Amino acid sequence: MENRKKNLEYEQLTLLTSAFCPLTSNIKYKARDHAAVRTQEYLFNQLFPYIGNKRKLLPLIFEAILKTEITEGLFVDFFSGSGVVSRLAKKNGFRIIANDWEPYSFFYNHAYIEQNKYPLFEELGGLERVYACLNSLEGVHGYISENYCPWDDKNPDIKRERMFFTHKNGMKIDAMREKIFEWEKTEKISLSEKSILLSSFIYSVSYVSNTSGVFKGFHNGWGGKTGTALYRILSDVKLIPPILFDNKLKNQVYQTDSQILAETLNKKVNITYLDPPYNQHPYGSNYHILNTIALWDKPEINKSILVDGKKKNKSAIRTDWKTERRSAYNYKNKATNSLEKLVKTVDSDYILLSYSTDGHMDLKDVLDIMAGNGKLSMVSKPYKRYRVSTPRMSEKPYNVETVLILDKNKTSSKGIVKELWNEFVEQDRWLRS
Ligand SMILES: C[S@@+](CC[C@H](N)C(=O)[O-])C[C@H]1O[C@@H](n2cnc3c(N)ncnc32)[C@H](O)[C@@H]1O
Repeated sequence: MENRKKNLEYEQLTLLTSAFCPLTSNIKYKARDHAAVRTQEYLFNQLFPYIGNKRKLLPLIFEAILKTEITEGLFVDFFSGSGVVSRLAKKNGFRIIANDWEPYSFFYNHAYIEQNKYPLFEELGGLERVYACLNSLEGVHGYISENYCPWDDKNPDIKRERMFFTHKNGMKIDAMREKIFEWEKTEKISLSEKSILLSSFIYSVSYVSNTSGVFKGFHNGWGGKTGTALYRILSDVKLIPPILFDNKLKNQVYQTDSQILAETLNKKVNITYLDPPYNQHPYGSNYHILNTIALWDKPEINKSILVDGKKKNKSAIRTDWKTERRSAYNYKNKATNSLEKLVKTVDSDYILLSYSTDGHMDLKDVLDIMAGNGKLSMVSKPYKRYRVSTPRMSEKPYNVETVLILDKNKTSSKGIVKELWNEFVEQDRWLRS
């Protein structure tokens, strides 16, 4: 078993290397741009921890892009999340449209995907001065430090107080975000400048949070029982400018429902990438604090965890995801219908769809939907499962990850669903043996 694991890791590593040295592909290889360090920096640095992100699956997605033999043109990422797949496509010569309806994702990707160069920050004396100004602010009491942090970092009241950040960092977050808000109100910063600053904010706030990356809860005590990651949780929050990449093309970032985007885009798309949520957990609830920081609208919440003496309001999750962004993809009984509608609507030469055995949509349904809309093929690989905490003994350590490749200009051969299904089952059986 140990040897098999090593082999898998080795295979992933070789694929990773070949994905970024695409000498055999049609995608143009430019020694300077593809130098490992540069590629790694833009692709892998400054990614906030995001459930379902495809960072580790980039080699597989790249393989799928290569299979389309399309080397340039418009690439649309309908559920962009952390934006890592858009970064891959941007780095490899495509013009990008990235969309996600969560506000934090919009600002993040507006910086990393839409922008090729830093905006000037003319009103404020340039980017360096702006970052220096924000980082040197004295902390103040405010919305984050009062609601999401304990009063005394050394003696937190774990029965009543939330511990998402140290009080010191909470006050700094309040000071910096208030300053950015003031610049917004007085029109000293543009949308591009605001998203550059918020992208830094989203990354840094995630880094110092007393969580395992998801804001549904926080560790009881700094770093939890094991004191995991105390070095980052107790470090001082600091903003650093995002690393940008200039693909010399006009990229755009949207914040809307993917179905609405598909219906209104009105552009010929070359490659569409679909990566909808694969389980019941809503992103707006998991990353509520990132949305609060992005929007800075300070929704009313209970200061204490206790309501009428009972622990009720532990994480103080804002509720707008329920009314404004409740995703059909979070419901097993609605997800396939939504996917079918979307696949039909999208006007694109190719659709690439990420599918994992971890998800709640049935593979057979997904294969049927895709095969009914063009010529279907796939690339797949066993991958180590994403887990925030230590896996239980009974769990499968690996699952099969797939990218389905749909050529919308052709039709599927008869029997393709069965063929792909068998291939999938074979891989899964091999994993279990
Ligand atoms: C699996 S994640 C995408 C991860 C992304 N590919 C990455 O690598 O980071 C799914 C994303 O879909 C977004 N989402 C869910 N329903 C949506 C909808 N109806 N329209 C637009 N975005 C949606 C969520 O906010 C989430 O970021």
